[in-house]
Amino acid sequence: MNILIMGPAGAGKGTMSDLIIQTYDIPHISTGDMLRENVRNNTPLGLEAKGYMEAGKLVPDAVINGMVEARLQEPDCEKGYLLDGFPRTLEQANTLTEIAERIGRPVQAVIALEVSFDDLVVRITGRRICPKCGAIYHIVNKPSKVEGICDVCGAELVQRKDDTVEQLKVRMDEYDNNTKPVIEFYGDKGLVHTVNAGKPADEVFAEIREILGEIE
Ligand code: AP5
Repeated sequence: MNILIMGPAGAGKGTMSDLIIQTYDIPHISTGDMLRENVRNNTPLGLEAKGYMEAGKLVPDAVINGMVEARLQEPDCEKGYLLDGFPRTLEQANTLTEIAERIGRPVQAVIALEVSFDDLVVRITGRRICPKCGAIYHIVNKPSKVEGICDVCGAELVQRKDDTVEQLKVRMDEYDNNTKPVIEFYGDKGLVHTVNAGKPADEVFAEIREILGEIE
């Protein structure tokens, strides 16, 4: 299965991706997670991306496209892929079309999550993440068992530097200007499934499962 999950910052792409890969045996490829790992490890790519990410701006296409191209050629992608947060620009979408053709895995469906801005503010400001294993929490909707500690690996939870209301507004502008045209691009191909993601996570996932069941 070759699928994309799209939606604005805090819409639940990471949360739904974790649930999708528990059901479907495909790798979850999050460009945000890959970039954060590079930043943590101080790689040249991470050093280039850091400033853009902390400002809520998109990292340049050339950096992202090379990173995704290398990842999609790894052996686990022979089963397919779940791309989270990529493509975010029309140039990235065109690059994905080329790579997908080369590896014989064209995009089959695009899950587009929709959530109101007010709900996104609550989700983003209350999110806590595990810097070690990547688990996602929310101080109200999905608290860890012990406050501030990851249930999965015991590491101390952190708040992302870009998880502020100011940065959210910048990320929303980037989304409206660059990523909405990508949803239209896939919409023209009849691949987009819009999901109201303003509901509780189990209800959102039930809807996604139904969509994926149809393309399986
Ligand atoms: P990225 O990490 O992709 O961030 P994002 O798109 O802003 O999305 P988020 O990770 O913030 O949110 P999410 O939708 O995954 O929500 P989550 O599941 O965590 O990218 C970060 C940065 O990297 C970008 O700004 C950019 O600089 C750069 N970048 C990445 N990809 C790029 C690309 N392709 N091109 C250029 N630059 C790129 O959920 C959020 C919170 O809500 C959590 O606390 C969760 O518990 C809670 N929650 C989730 N679902 C529900 C629900 N249904 N009900 C209640 N609470 C919920």
